Amino acid sequence: MKGIFIVMEGPDGSGKTTQIEMLKEYLEENGYETLVTREPGGTVIGEDIRRIILNPEYKKMSEVTEMLLYAASRAQLVKELIGPALENGKIVISDRFVDSSVVYQGIARGIGIETVNEVNRPGIGAYKPDCIFFIDIPEEEGIRRKKEQKKLDRMEQESIDFHHMVSEGYRTVLSDRKEVIRISGMDKPENIQKEIREVIMPYLKGYQE
Ligand code: TYD
Repeated sequence: MKGIFIVMEGPDGSGKTTQIEMLKEYLEENGYETLVTREPGGTVIGEDIRRIILNPEYKKMSEVTEMLLYAASRAQLVKELIGPALENGKIVISDRFVDSSVVYQGIARGIGIETVNEVNRPGIGAYKPDCIFFIDIPEEEGIRRKKEQKKLDRMEQESIDFHHMVSEGYRTVLSDRKEVIRISGMDKPENIQKEIREVIMPYLKGYQE
């Protein structure tokens, strides 16, 4: 893998998307070829899958269907965009990756971490994030921010208990992993971005050599 694979994780409303936009701008200004992707979605097929997964009318969707749809969208994204970009030496920034499924479906829906990892394995293959930023915010604050921005999607409409399990799940799953950097999402966006850029710097140095 010649490129750098950066993933942004965190509960709904943590501000991942804003940080990704700021990071992309910075990297491109400095001459790095960057690919930004989002999950679920990111490809034509994936965006169709996204519409199904997040449709608030699909109250009947089973947990297993949900897990498989997220995995399907991800498999398409890796095959079509993430894999080729990394092989071509680009910097890939993904808005969510498999840890979202581990936390939302594996923990909050109760399917189990192992099952979620197994189901996702064939689609992901050998691609592993070099660095994962975990933007941590209290679940009440995340949902409050989302409500201000837009109509809530199927996942965001889940109970506060569900979102609490998501936040706790992230803290458990992402603790003690060397590639994970936890940042408080309660800080100002500019300060969060500063922290992200400082962490990225050594990766960029190694990459230029
Ligand atoms: P996201 O695109 O981050 O939401 P938004 O664009 O509205 O900020 O994610 C959509 C929702 O899907 C979010 O509630 C988290 C959920 N999700 C999972 O449950 N499992 C997954 O594997 C992924 C990628 C997302």
